[in-house]
Amino acid sequence: MKPELKLPGIAYGGDYNPEQWPEEVWAEDMRLMREAGVTMVSVGIFSWALLEPAEGEYDFSRMDKILGLLHDNGIAADLATPTAAPPAWFFRRHPEALPVDRDGRRLSYGSRQTFCPSSPAYRRAALRITRAIADRYAGHPAVAMWHVHNEYGCHNAECYCDTSAEAFRGWLRSRYEDLAALNEAWGTTFWSQWYYDWDEILPPRPTGAVPNPTHQLDWRRFCSDELLSLYVAERDVLGAAAPSIPATTNFMVMYNFDALDYWRWAPHLDVLSNDHYLRSTDPESEIDIALSGDLMRSLAGGPWLLMEHSTGAVNWQPVNRAKGPGELRRNALAHVARGADGIAYFQWRAAKAGAEQWHSAMLPHAGTDSRIWQDVVRLGADLRALAEVRDSAGTAEVAVVWDWNARWALELPSQPSGELRFLDLVRDWYEPLWRAGVAVDFVRPDADLSSYRLVLAPSLYLVDEAGAANLTSFARRGGVLAVGFHSGAVDENCHVRLGGYPGAFREVLGVRGDELFPLLPGESVGLTGEVTPGATGTLWSERVRTEGARVVATYTEGPLSGRPAITRNAYGEGVAWYVATRPDPATLGALLDRIRSEAGVEPVRTTPEGVEAALRRGSDADYLFLIDHSGRGGEVAVSDGATELLTGKPVGDGSVTVPAGGVVVVREPRQ
Ligand code: GLA
Repeated sequence: MKPELKLPGIAYGGDYNPEQWPEEVWAEDMRLMREAGVTMVSVGIFSWALLEPAEGEYDFSRMDKILGLLHDNGIAADLATPTAAPPAWFFRRHPEALPVDRDGRRLSYGSRQTFCPSSPAYRRAALRITRAIADRYAGHPAVAMWHVHNEYGCHNAECYCDTSAEAFRGWLRSRYEDLAALNEAWGTTFWSQWYYDWDEILPPRPTGAVPNPTHQLDWRRFCSDELLSLYVAERDVLGAAAPSIPATTNFMVMYNFDALDYWRWAPHLDVLSNDHYLRSTDPESEIDIALSGDLMRSLAGGPWLLMEHSTGAVNWQPVNRAKGPGELRRNALAHVARGADGIAYFQWRAAKAGAEQWHSAMLPHAGTDSRIWQDVVRLGADLRALAEVRDSAGTAEVAVVWDWNARWALELPSQPSGELRFLDLVRDWYEPLWRAGVAVDFVRPDADLSSYRLVLAPSLYLVDEAGAANLTSFARRGGVLAVGFHSGAVDENCHVRLGGYPGAFREVLGVRGDELFPLLPGESVGLTGEVTPGATGTLWSERVRTEGARVVATYTEGPLSGRPAITRNAYGEGVAWYVATRPDPATLGALLDRIRSEAGVEPVRTTPEGVEAALRRGSDADYLFLIDHSGRGGEVAVSDGATELLTGKPVGDGSVTVPAGGVVVVREPRQ
């Protein structure tokens, strides 16, 4: 049994960095945290230089006071290991521990996370400070959770130095055992890349022409595993000292951060947590939040914690947008709707100095006389009102296949099209489901699919035999499967599956393609058949013929005029759809509606346009979250005996009003 976070209700707080402020400020922090209803804060994340002023010499006096103060005020600590930011003294002694970027430049210290993940000196130093913290604070009553490191790989996912090269070779040796197997897997007869000695193998440093794809893919796998081994080493030290305190590290499953294979990481965490920030350029960030939350709940197999998001603008985008009225509340409660049992911000008090001085916080520069502070206090009350939602889970009958190996491989150079982006392709398919209020889980290709009616694989370029067989047998046994273009094309070594496209899924889809016709940016082709007039495809097309499947739509023009673009195949007890292009959003939406009704999947609730619906299932009640993004609000039907949790009022007449830009959470007792 993994240790659990023993806090009542929905945790509320943020990163707390009191070391940046004189002690007089701390008392005010405590008073205001209590006013806002803060229950847990993350402390010490970037405190290494203060905790260990010189190698092996510790100064815990400040941390002792901080933890004491938190405890006295009834606030739990998510105590960090400070290993994301080694002090300057460490690098002066170990300049070899500084990372080397892809262009061969050795970086300097002076910010954070500028260390080589494979450096033995870094590992020793990180475990030394971790042990010192574990020994001192394992029994401290304020410590509710360990916050291991911070956002592994955010700035140093890859290091190309000689030490990393050696570690990469070690990782390859355990994967392949002998060089012949590696040469076979990498296809090194191509371009005279054959290796006769392990020492000949380097990281994929810049080279004259396109590097070997499997080499690059294994490099991504290695980099993820290398950081994971650092996490596991720290967690083991903490776990040995305090077996009942859970450990987490904050993931970043969205905003195009794709360095870590979180399916491999998730089993090693006691509690899963995530950091999520809005992108100013995304006009519908609410979809990104939902996708991220669904992915986190799927990785966790249940509730998780939102470890960081922002009350307002961040400081690291070209232009950092503030949030509009009600947006802070909508954002936070949307994460809860997708399974977050804790809501935390970066950070508690806005910094006046340092690289993040222009990042928003719970307590802004302006102080408590500010809209953000009012919103923060209100959110604290909201989260208290939602305490009973804790531990409730999702209810999805739709699974979307998500795989980091497939993502990495799809985005390697030298694809038929350099325009393919995994996240965009998944979001294409996720969006219409979100708009319809359909609950979605994310799954690995080899997951147990028995609880789903519908499985979607929008983009699964790389899939191994086990994954392909699993999806195929899902359809054979009566499920509805839909697959996006260029899926199943290569195996786990990035070798093309021969005999026609889409490789691994030819049989289940009942189609065979013999040539790919990617479309240029801005180019589109008309579609006709069981689609609305004016339907188009962009990005991709391929010459496909049916081998058992029925044609649903064909191209109207171009070299593939009259050829299938969308097909449906009755397979075993089930059905398999192939979408061989990127349909325009309305066409894809209509298609997914049709596929969903064929699978018998209903939305969690029918709502007016722009009102998001998500459901968490508790032991004796369902919790329906309704969030208005339209600015109009609307009426939503709820079941008898329902209660509005945020107001505490019973629902009288079988429906609730979602105010414009507002949020309503309804407890519906289960019969
Ligand atoms: C990340 C980090 C934080 C902070 C925020 C700013 O998520 O974990 O320390 O830098 O970004 O958005």
